[in-house]
Amino acid sequence: MDLSGNANAHADPFLIRECHLEEAEALLTLWHAAGTSPSVTDTITDIQSVIEGPASVLVAEVNKQLVGSLIATFDGWRGNMYRIAVHPDYRRRGIGRALVAEGEKRLAKLGVKRITALVEEKYPWAIAFWSSVGYEIEPGIVRFFRNP
Ligand SMILES: CC(C)(COP(=O)(O)OP(=O)(O)OC[C@H]1O[C@@H](n2cnc3c(N)ncnc32)[C@H](O)[C@@H]1OP(=O)(O)O)[C@@H](O)C(=O)NCCC(=O)NCCS
Repeated sequence: MDLSGNANAHADPFLIRECHLEEAEALLTLWHAAGTSPSVTDTITDIQSVIEGPASVLVAEVNKQLVGSLIATFDGWRGNMYRIAVHPDYRRRGIGRALVAEGEKRLAKLGVKRITALVEEKYPWAIAFWSSVGYEIEPGIVRFFRNP
């Protein structure tokens, strides 16, 4: 898929839908183009597995190209959102907001009462985005992790 640029990007409507299994590579390409921070699960196999699993792997499509993504999951206790990403050519037209709204709708159907998004403090646009879509920073919390 060519994600190199589109002069008419802002004129074209977008569609939010579930990601298809065969789009795992296109999703990885989108993440690279969007500049998401690399993670241990940035592999085709891991992406295929999340698409096949219970999480909602949502994408935004414009002219048959993947231009946005969000993973919305429920672990049985909390809802979590990962990998919000919009291709640079398609930003500030409400795609990120629409992805979060669709993710919230899916999580609400599962009875989720609290949704968390991990956001890197060093990215002011990410802080501005999550604040804009109605999320608050929880003071006093740090993230513990281990890659087993
Ligand atoms: C963050 C990101 C997903 C936003 O996607 P988007 O489709 O441009 O977001 P939207 O158009 O829905 O923006 C919704 C609101 O968020 C805020 N916002 C979004 N991008 C912003 C920016 N760069 N600076 C300041 N505020 C911003 C604005 O309030 C915006 O509303 P407005 O355009 O009416 O002012 C996109 O910039 C991106 O992919 N960034 C790189 C990847 C990344 O950092 N992901 C977040 C990791 S947690």
